[in-house]
Amino acid sequence: MQHQAIGIFDSGIGGTSIWKEISVALPNENTIYLADSKNAPYGKRSKDDIIALSIKNTEKLLELNCKIIVVACNTATTNAIKVLRSTYDIPFIGIEPAIKPAALHTKTKKVGVLATKGTLSSELFAKTSDVYTNNIEVIEVIGTGLVELIEEGKIDSPEMHTLLTSYIKPMIEKDIDYLVLGCSHYPYLIPILRKILSDKVTIIDSGEAVARQTRVILDANHLLNSSSKTGTHNLYTNGDVHTLKSMLRSNTVAHTVSSLDF
Ligand code: DGL
Repeated sequence: MQHQAIGIFDSGIGGTSIWKEISVALPNENTIYLADSKNAPYGKRSKDDIIALSIKNTEKLLELNCKIIVVACNTATTNAIKVLRSTYDIPFIGIEPAIKPAALHTKTKKVGVLATKGTLSSELFAKTSDVYTNNIEVIEVIGTGLVELIEEGKIDSPEMHTLLTSYIKPMIEKDIDYLVLGCSHYPYLIPILRKILSDKVTIIDSGEAVARQTRVILDANHLLNSSSKTGTHNLYTNGDVHTLKSMLRSNTVAHTVSSLDF
């Protein structure tokens, strides 16, 4: 069981931001990544749809013999992880907007959260936000269109700059000092966001925390791979292979990218 892969899925290529953290933090683990680009974006879909797609991805990762599943998508986590955990026996790791560290450290008491509609309207997000944001103003903005542009490979495009500026401007006007990226696609936007935001705004994403938690849960379940060999990494997409490859171009961890129907 220990030698089986860590399964990771996202609505598309964005969850590779999480895969990168995991493959570096756990170098002896094997991983299988599913990019459900054919069905992206999840953020506009109904909760029932998001649950059905999350089940489909989980079934595929189980068929591929994974020992644990990382839901590398905030939208799928906040809408479907409860159902996944109650349906399947293996452990699931989720990703949620990292509102807690932002709320603990903000000095202006104003925190921005950029996420999908599906995440911001979920019960799980509302609950987490309620627990940590007493006396703090949270400026929530839906990143409509951002996932689509990233999936089309238009990260550093004029459309992206215009759209991002329009979403971030109201947060700057409110004097935020923390910006929480509540979607696993958005870490790819950090270089552009850094141009829009002043240095006093800290950007937080959840990638490293998810990798840490994955190690903790593997360990607690006696599932850590004890092999001293470097892990293998197979990434699959039901969308455009070239777009997924281009996201990983500068990546130093050896991996393969292929097409898969799921
Ligand atoms: N990467 C997904 C997330 O973290 C994107 C959601 C979408 O497909 O809209 O929420």
